[in-house]
Amino acid sequence: MCGIVGYVGNKNCVPILIQGLKRLEYRGYDSAGIGLIHEDEPIVIKTKGKVSLLEERVNELVLESEIGIGHTRWATHGIPNEQNAHPHTNANKTLFIIHNGIIENFQALKNNLIILGYKFESDTDTEVLAHLIDSYLNKGINLSKSVQMTLNEVNGTYGLAVMYSKEPDKIIAARKGSPLVIGIGAGENFIASDVSAILAYTKNVIYLEDGEFAEIYKDRYVVKSILDKEIEKEIHEINMSIDEIDKGGYPHFMLKEIMEQPESTRNSMRGRLLIEEGSAKLGGLNDIIDRLVNSKRILISACGTSWHAALVGEYMFEQYARIPVEVEYASEFRYRNPILSGEDSIFFISQSGETADTLAALKEAKSRGALALGICNVVGSTIARESMSGVYIHAGPEIGVASTKAFTAQLVVLALITLLISKRKGLKPSDGKKIADALNEIPSKIAQILKLNDEIEQLAEEFKDSPNFLYLGRGYNFPAALEGALKLKEISYIHAEGYPAAEMKHGPIALIDENMPVVFIAPKDSTYEKILSNIQEVRARGGRIIAITDEGNGEIDKLVDHTIKIPRTIEMLTPILTSIPLQLLAYHIAVKKALDVDQPRNLAKSVTVE
Ligand code: G6P
Repeated sequence: MCGIVGYVGNKNCVPILIQGLKRLEYRGYDSAGIGLIHEDEPIVIKTKGKVSLLEERVNELVLESEIGIGHTRWATHGIPNEQNAHPHTNANKTLFIIHNGIIENFQALKNNLIILGYKFESDTDTEVLAHLIDSYLNKGINLSKSVQMTLNEVNGTYGLAVMYSKEPDKIIAARKGSPLVIGIGAGENFIASDVSAILAYTKNVIYLEDGEFAEIYKDRYVVKSILDKEIEKEIHEINMSIDEIDKGGYPHFMLKEIMEQPESTRNSMRGRLLIEEGSAKLGGLNDIIDRLVNSKRILISACGTSWHAALVGEYMFEQYARIPVEVEYASEFRYRNPILSGEDSIFFISQSGETADTLAALKEAKSRGALALGICNVVGSTIARESMSGVYIHAGPEIGVASTKAFTAQLVVLALITLLISKRKGLKPSDGKKIADALNEIPSKIAQILKLNDEIEQLAEEFKDSPNFLYLGRGYNFPAALEGALKLKEISYIHAEGYPAAEMKHGPIALIDENMPVVFIAPKDSTYEKILSNIQEVRARGGRIIAITDEGNGEIDKLVDHTIKIPRTIEMLTPILTSIPLQLLAYHIAVKKALDVDQPRNLAKSVTVE
C-alpha cells in the first residue's frame, strides 16, 4: 500500500519521481504528490486521483530540483483527497514527509500536539509525524536526530522518507514493517518502496530492515540501527530488466501477465523438475528437508489469491505426501493463539512478500518454534527474508492488481514441493514420473488454452451485464472456483461467489433462476460424475451454465449453455489449467464494462496494512 520514491543527485528529479510513481501506482492510486526544492523554495504539489493528474500539474509549473520525494496513496486514515495526500508538511512547509503504514498511536500524539498549538490540515496519521519532527527541529535538533526521536514515540508501521529545506542535501528514510530500498547510483541515490520505481536508473540496491534508519546524500549514505549504530549493508544487484516490468504491447498488464503464463510456469519449474527421476529439487529447502518431511502437520497460511493456492496445496500434500494439512487466512491465524510446536511446518505464500497479515503470521509461527517457510515471488521481499527457508516462484514481476501468473506459478511450486516430499515419503517412482511428466507439459497446455481467448471474449460479451455469478467446483477445483469468483469480483465489480459444488444445495441454490450464470469447473477427474449431478440441479432451475471441461468431452454439451474445452492433465494439476479461462473471462468482462483492469477501485497490489 502506498508507493514511495525519492531522489538526491545532480539531475532534475521531477521526471524521475513521476516515472517512479507511475511504476509504483499498483501499490495505491487514490492520490499522489511530490515535495521538492525549486530555486531554494520548498514546494509541495498534490492531487487527488492518478499520478497522470499529478504529472499534468507538475508539467504546467515547470519545476526543477535536485532532491525530491514522491508518494502514491492508498487511503487508510482520511478519504482520498488533496489534503490527505502526501507529502505532509510542518506549518511553515519546510519539512516534507511521505509514509506507508499506519501510526497506531497517532490520536494520542495528535492530541498532545494540538495542546502545544499545532494545527492539522489533514485527517491522516502521517501528518502527526510531520509536526512531531517539527517540534524537535524547533528545539534546535538536527533533522536526522529529530526523525529518530519522533520514531521512538511511535507505535505502528512505517516505511517513510523525510526532507527538510534547511538541510537540503539529504533524505532521511526509516523502515518498520513497510518495505524500503535504497538505490545506489553514481553521484545520485534513490529511495523507493520497491525496485521497480528505480530500476531504470540503477540495479544496485540495499534493502532496509525493520528498525533501520538511513541518511541518503547524493554521493554517500549511512544506514543505522535502532540503537543509532552504523551498519554495513550488503549491496544487491537486481537482475530484472526494465522491459520485464513494461506492458510489452498489451493493453493491460493483466492481459500481458495472463498471456505470459506458458513462460512463467516454465520459469517456476526450470532447473527444479527432475523428469527422469520423477522428482524435484528445490535448493531453498535443502537445509530443512528432513524436518519438513518429518513434520507431524503442515500448515499453509496466506491471504487473497495466495490463500486459494494454499487450498490447492492442501489437496496436493495430503493426497501424495499423506501429511495432515491445515490452511488458514493469515489474518485469522495470527490472532487466534494458534497451537504450534517444533513438529509443525508452516508455509507462508505471498506474491509480494510484503502482505502485513502474512508477515505477522510468519513472525508468530517463528516465535512458537514451528518451521516457517516462505513461498514468494518478489526476490528480497520481507517475507522471503524473514522465512527460515523457502522457495521463490520466479513468475517475474506481476503488476496487475488481480493476481494471475503468480497464482499459477504458486501452484507449480506447490506441485514441486509435493513431489519432493512425497518422494521422501515413499511415493512410487511411476507416480512420481507421472506427476513430473504432467508438470512438464503444463506450459504448452496453457499456451493451447490461451488460443481460446477470442471464444472467451464472446462469452464475456454475452454475460457482461449479469449482476451475479456463481462458480462451482469440487476437489482440486473448489479453490479454482473461489479464485474464478474472486477474479471477477476484483476487476468487474460483479458480485460473484465460489462454492464447493455440493454445498450449492445448502443455500446458493436459492439464488438460481434464468438470470443467474453458473460457471462449473468440471474436468473429467474423480469428482466428475458428482459434478454432473450438480449441473443437472442447476439446469432444472433454469440457470445459465458455462462449463469448463476436457477436450473431447461431448456428453456435457447438451447439458450446458456453453463449454470451454481445455487439454487434460492429471487431477492435481487441473486447477492450473482451469484457472486460465476464468482469468480471461473476468478480464474481458471488465474490459467490456470499461473498467480499470490493472488498478481496480479500492484494491492494492501489496497490502502492507492489517
Ligand atoms: C491483495 C492483492 C491480491 C493478493 C493478496 C495477497 O489483496 O490485491 O491479488 O492475492 O493481496 O497478496 P500476496 O502478495 O501476499 O500474495
